[in-house]
Amino acid sequence: MLTTSSRWIGAFAVLAAAGGGCGGGHEGHGSGGPHAMPAAAMLTPEAWSGSLATVTATDTNVDPNVVEVTLRATPAEIEYLPGKRTTAWTYGGTVPGPTIRAKLGDRILVHFRNDLPEPTTIHWHGLRLPNAMDGAGPAATPIPPGGTFDYAFDALDAGTYWYHPHVASNEQVDRGLYGAIVIDDPAEPALPVVADEMVVLDDVMLDAATGVQTAMKDDERALMMGLEGNLALVNGRRSNVGVAVRAGEWRRLRLLSSANARYFKLSLAGGTMIQLATDGTLLEAPAPVSELLLVPGERADVVVRVDSASNTATLRAVPYARAVGSEPTTAIDLVRLVASAEPPVDVKMPAALRPHSPLSPSSKTRTIRLGERTDGARPVFLINDAAFPAVPTIDAKLGSVEEWAIQNESDMDHPFHLHGFFFQPVDTRVRKDTVNVPAKTTVRLLVDFHAHAGAAGSWMYHCHILEHAEGGMLAEVMVNE
Ligand code: C2O
Ligand code: CU
Ligand code: CU
Repeated sequence: MLTTSSRWIGAFAVLAAAGGGCGGGHEGHGSGGPHAMPAAAMLTPEAWSGSLATVTATDTNVDPNVVEVTLRATPAEIEYLPGKRTTAWTYGGTVPGPTIRAKLGDRILVHFRNDLPEPTTIHWHGLRLPNAMDGAGPAATPIPPGGTFDYAFDALDAGTYWYHPHVASNEQVDRGLYGAIVIDDPAEPALPVVADEMVVLDDVMLDAATGVQTAMKDDERALMMGLEGNLALVNGRRSNVGVAVRAGEWRRLRLLSSANARYFKLSLAGGTMIQLATDGTLLEAPAPVSELLLVPGERADVVVRVDSASNTATLRAVPYARAVGSEPTTAIDLVRLVASAEPPVDVKMPAALRPHSPLSPSSKTRTIRLGERTDGARPVFLINDAAFPAVPTIDAKLGSVEEWAIQNESDMDHPFHLHGFFFQPVDTRVRKDTVNVPAKTTVRLLVDFHAHAGAAGSWMYHCHILEHAEGGMLAEVMVNE
């Protein structure tokens, strides 16, 4: 079924040779350095037909304002490649884990059990919740094998969020531990869509012959750039899936990247794509996009359609170079929308979505510098020249707004993420929790330390390339009453 398996195996020899030829360490980040090392060749699955359906978590509570679910982290066999079994780590046996759906204001109760062979937590990425429920930072003790924990929090913000471990996150997320959490706002403008679906993008590194997932922990490029797999996944299934549609009808896709490191620069060839939301929050108005960069941890809600009958629109990851001197990634066909011969329907999107009031002026300005150095053979990733846990904790005041200048001094992009609070990139009217900071640039953010129940405490901020976070580019902000 796979057209390039032998090419893929061959590519490894090339990769190893390039690493060996690199010589003395990582000094040269230009040509010859790990940035320039080619990524492993992608497996390119044949086009197949299916759906974007994902499993939804079962709400066992009869109270309409309480969503109560059970999540169990457990190894399970997954068929990423046809006829091959991959042992993944999962929530409840599926990759992605079940989508938790609730509505604004609901109480959410998650009974969690860890049946993995190592400690873990669940972190609720992008959600504002009590510090003790964040599954990360000093307030979250890792749950040992066989242990349980009950997460409880209120759905304070509508939108598309996700959950994943915050212990050895580069390995645990890569093995398949991730899922979506969607908070609906009944007061939002109704959208004329025929479907509202998660599209979780990831990649895994598989041995094409056996389906075994290979970690590539000591691979020089993976250590520097973060781990990119050789098979792109859409909702835990191999890419290039065809979905039957009617021309003109709109589908809402809640795009989420759970990849450790891959950047998905998305385009919809042969159709129309309109962005509705970024990270948690609706934009002020629908925004047509020809290309949309989705970095690790980030979400973007879009509506998509095929414009004319009997045509196909392809959601494709187009080449993107995320480091100075690196080769752009190869294009990947992710989802094909295959329109029937029926005449197109003509459906209009609303003109406005959600107004955003500007944040109050910032009371404090900080500079957060992202950098990197090598320590022997291993790269170390830095915030203000120190690696976690040596980065001094910032003190911030609940209720204040601060301006953070995220200054990327390194020669590769870093997706910056803050727990527990939203920020607004200056000169925009959007609310985000994860933003790309391109190589050698500065991105300015207004951080909104707006109070919510249990908001006082120590919250993490870090690069969402998980090898970088685990490699030191992580720190804490202590938010005081
Ligand atoms: Cu998805 Cu600490 O983050
Ligand atoms: Cu997070
Ligand atoms: Cu990074």
